[in-house]
Amino acid sequence: MNSRQSKEKVVLAYSGGLDTSVCIKWLQHEMGLDVIAMLGNVGQEHDGLEKVAEKARMLGCVAVEVVDMTEEFASDYITCAIAANAMYENKYPLLSALSRPLISKHLVETAHKYGATCVAHGCTGKGNDQVRFETSIMALDPSLRVIAPVREWDLGMRPDEIAYAEKHGVPVSQSIEKPYSIDDNLWGRAIEAGALEDPWAEPPADIWTITVDPADAPDIPTYVEIGFSEGVPVSLDGEGLPLSELIAKLNGIAGSCGYGRIDMIENRYVGLKSRECYEVPAGLALIQAHKALEDLCLERDVLHHKLALEQLWADQVYNGRWFSPFKQALDAFMAATQHDVTGTVRLKLYKGGCVVAGSKSACALYDPALATYENDEAFDQKAAKGFIDIQGLSIKTWAMKGAAHMEGATPAPTSFDVLDGTAGSHTASRAVNF
Ligand code: ARG
Repeated sequence: MNSRQSKEKVVLAYSGGLDTSVCIKWLQHEMGLDVIAMLGNVGQEHDGLEKVAEKARMLGCVAVEVVDMTEEFASDYITCAIAANAMYENKYPLLSALSRPLISKHLVETAHKYGATCVAHGCTGKGNDQVRFETSIMALDPSLRVIAPVREWDLGMRPDEIAYAEKHGVPVSQSIEKPYSIDDNLWGRAIEAGALEDPWAEPPADIWTITVDPADAPDIPTYVEIGFSEGVPVSLDGEGLPLSELIAKLNGIAGSCGYGRIDMIENRYVGLKSRECYEVPAGLALIQAHKALEDLCLERDVLHHKLALEQLWADQVYNGRWFSPFKQALDAFMAATQHDVTGTVRLKLYKGGCVVAGSKSACALYDPALATYENDEAFDQKAAKGFIDIQGLSIKTWAMKGAAHMEGATPAPTSFDVLDGTAGSHTASRAVNF
């Protein structure tokens, strides 16, 4: 048996950047492993995945797997995010958090295909992504060992990493000057670090690449119509499109209207706050449109309780718990609510803004005959009196019994009859000033 056959194998999530390229060498030299590079296409910008694959081969990977995950990302991940109107801290549409479980799933599958005992990622020890990769891998195959070289190596300073890279023949030229940490996919772009670390500093104009400056956006509004079927966006301006294409096209339209920028301070799961900028033109527009359609179609209690569960869904996914029993249960709830979320929403995009200009649905629970002030045939206004009396009974009882605990309450001038006629013993009751 030669030494190659006896080496254990590791599957590395490879991006082609400096960190993951140095990871290849570190796994080979410091860990003595054969490295299989897995390159996932989740709709990120790239100048040729084949070039990246070639780089992995040049760095001595024993195999390279290029996996196109874009359709799966749209159909199994983004679709669920739209159903859950996913927005961490009411602001961040979870783009990186959505891609990590999918990439993890393919890491595990690739490990099984090659008989690898380990998987590796290039995340640091300060971010959320390490948690998401490792928790997902744990859920899918608890027997796999996860290696996080960037967290473990002593190459913390950039010059040390570059020296290590040069020593091992890793090309560094294009990678050195990148001033930000960027993660992007079909759902949008995340930009952090560099000049953004000062929350007082306005984001430099060069961080934005898929949205124009709202000041430079067209001076007339742009309208788009999004068609939904059971909660899933299926058409754009009447043209039926697969979700991945619809998102790509809408990114172009909304981005050119200056819509989709987010600049926020975010609470990472690992306990620190960070300044994050995002560009998510299609994502924000689709969630806004989807919510508008839900307003029209969902029964009140479903809608209200869904709002609360949406927060829990976003927290689970942000915290890396995509493959978890609680998240699965939440998905089942979300799915059960989407059956009637079918219809069309018209959005108006104008200089960085996006508003709902109209919505319609054959499943709408909105009923003009009930809502109108024009005639009263469908809604019996007189019945409202009894409804208010009964629903307010507990409050009335409380008020009459005396709300002495309420500050500023004025003493009641007299006692008066509570409904069951026992008020005689409550002569000290107080009236409440509203
Ligand atoms: N803060 C975001 C998240 O945790 C984005 C992280 C993106 N990663 C990056 N290297 N820029 O989901």
